[in-house]
Amino acid sequence: VLDDSPTKRIGGDILKGFKKYTHKKRLYSLDKCQTAEELKKWTEKIKTTYPDAFFTVEYKLDGLSVNLLYTDGVLKTAATRGNGSVGEDVTAQIMTIKSVPLKIPFNRTCEIQGEVIMRKSSLKKYNEKNPDTPLKNERNAAAGAVRNLDPKVTASRKLDVITYAVGYIEDGDFDTQSGLVEFLKSNGFRTAEYFKKTDNLEYLIDYIGEIEKERGDLDYLIDGVVIKVDDLNIREELGYTEKFPRFAIAYKFEATEASTIIKDVIWQVSRTGKLNPLAILEPVEIGGTTVSRATLSNMSEIRRKDIKINSKVFVRRSNDVIPEITGIAEHYADSVDVIPPAVCPSCGSHLKCDAVFIYCTNPENCRDITVSKITHYASREAMDIVGLSEKTVEVFYDKLNVREVQDIYKLTVEELTALEGFRDKKAENIINSIEISKNAEITDFVYALGIENVGKKAAKELASNFGSFESIKNSSVEEIEQIRDFGAVTAKCVYDFFRNEKNLKTIEEIFSSGVKLMIPEKKEEKTGIFTGKTVVLTGVLKNYKRSEAQSIIAANGGDVADTISKKVSLVIAGADAGGKLEKAKKLKIEIIGEDEFISLINRRFMT
Ligand code: IVH
Repeated sequence: VLDDSPTKRIGGDILKGFKKYTHKKRLYSLDKCQTAEELKKWTEKIKTTYPDAFFTVEYKLDGLSVNLLYTDGVLKTAATRGNGSVGEDVTAQIMTIKSVPLKIPFNRTCEIQGEVIMRKSSLKKYNEKNPDTPLKNERNAAAGAVRNLDPKVTASRKLDVITYAVGYIEDGDFDTQSGLVEFLKSNGFRTAEYFKKTDNLEYLIDYIGEIEKERGDLDYLIDGVVIKVDDLNIREELGYTEKFPRFAIAYKFEATEASTIIKDVIWQVSRTGKLNPLAILEPVEIGGTTVSRATLSNMSEIRRKDIKINSKVFVRRSNDVIPEITGIAEHYADSVDVIPPAVCPSCGSHLKCDAVFIYCTNPENCRDITVSKITHYASREAMDIVGLSEKTVEVFYDKLNVREVQDIYKLTVEELTALEGFRDKKAENIINSIEISKNAEITDFVYALGIENVGKKAAKELASNFGSFESIKNSSVEEIEQIRDFGAVTAKCVYDFFRNEKNLKTIEEIFSSGVKLMIPEKKEEKTGIFTGKTVVLTGVLKNYKRSEAQSIIAANGGDVADTISKKVSLVIAGADAGGKLEKAKKLKIEIIGEDEFISLINRRFMT
């Protein structure tokens, strides 16, 4: 078999374990900075000794670092970073990656450093092919594939290696980072698209801004920018600290992911009776916020991700969403499996399971279900009863026998004042806000009822399409299905809700306690830059919550839709946009990014 035979790429036998590999030259990690000020300090320090120094600017690739040893022009070993001095031999795995040359023209010994990555497009394709075992995150997918003992698994993930450094080299003939990158390219290695060189701090900062802007459009993850002194002789003189080279620094973008330990998994009973597992985490800072809880969806996700209590996991936080666990970083000797509860953790009733979810079978008498139904009814987006928080509802349930939504209207100031912690004012305030909330908008009330699948937007559609609460109540499945964005499932949920005796009794009692529904006057049609346009938002916006962006579009005359169809005329794509963006491209719908969106709405103020 030749050194560069394609048969080496297929992936041979499953290994028993990884051998150790001692790197010829230690793999350092990089010192970090996060502000222009810190970067300025770093460049100024170098400039005081080397006033003519140039700096290079590269992507900081977010994958798994790998060190490739070539002797006589042949790939001999590929190893992970490990502790920087000794890593694990993953040669069989790395050989399956097509962008790693098995033979190179340079025929002396060298060690090439790079990052194993999985492209976003490859992850998407992989997930389309493997819908039952989808991969969530490109970095973890790449790391997991390289550390898998079966090289065939590595091959199936279609990974890539992008190189950026040369550790050891026997008689190399370049003396700058620019020359080093040329050397890599001319030997058939892949390097990142972006590479700039400057001796000017202002330009450096501009380049970083440029990269941060295009970050979302790249086909792979980057978590910052690496700035290096270009001249290798200066590098030699600057040398290393205990941990880092003095000649390079990473400018890190705000983190969205970190790793931490799962201390426990608890089960919360939701309004619908579904038991939601919640991971209790060792608190960890992610992008300026302390995260101590993460959602886990259901048991099948827990099993698929191999989540165990006392294990280290990756946690991701993005705007607006509850943090989620994207994968396992490490199991330990005391890691234990998550065991689903045997009975409802709130009321002790039997549980029932469907394909993936677990439900309480006694919703009528379950404390947590009742409490969250009432809390939802009182919430800001619903009846907006100020002061009726979850904690307060719990007290009312436990001490005042509040068992159904309508019971809150029977409460008196005297009853509340008698409770511990409810001074006169607090009791009065709550009773007052219950009274004030009795004049409710029909949309808020429909949403407050907590009909399955009916969120605020659907409630609004129901109200505006049927015009009165009575008409909603009496509508047929077919009539409901006519509404845009309403499918058969939601239509049936609405229909069934109003055929349930208990629900009808609740509604009747709410009305007889004085709740009156207002039908908002038809507001004059808003006109503006989005008039006549149906707009879809996709991906993550940096500057707006999704609800804020929706309000801006509506205030400027646009209609917001959830799904891409021919009716859609404009798509606003934030970071990490996926399927919807692809579909919009196929349908040739106009697509703009967040910056364009911002400049469109700003232009409005200028004209
Ligand atoms: S140079 C002596 N360049 O970042 C300096 N590293 O936090 C050697 N990384 O372990 C590293 N992109 O895995 C360098 N363009 C780039 C990089 C890069 C990503 C990784 C690398 C390193 C880690 C340090």
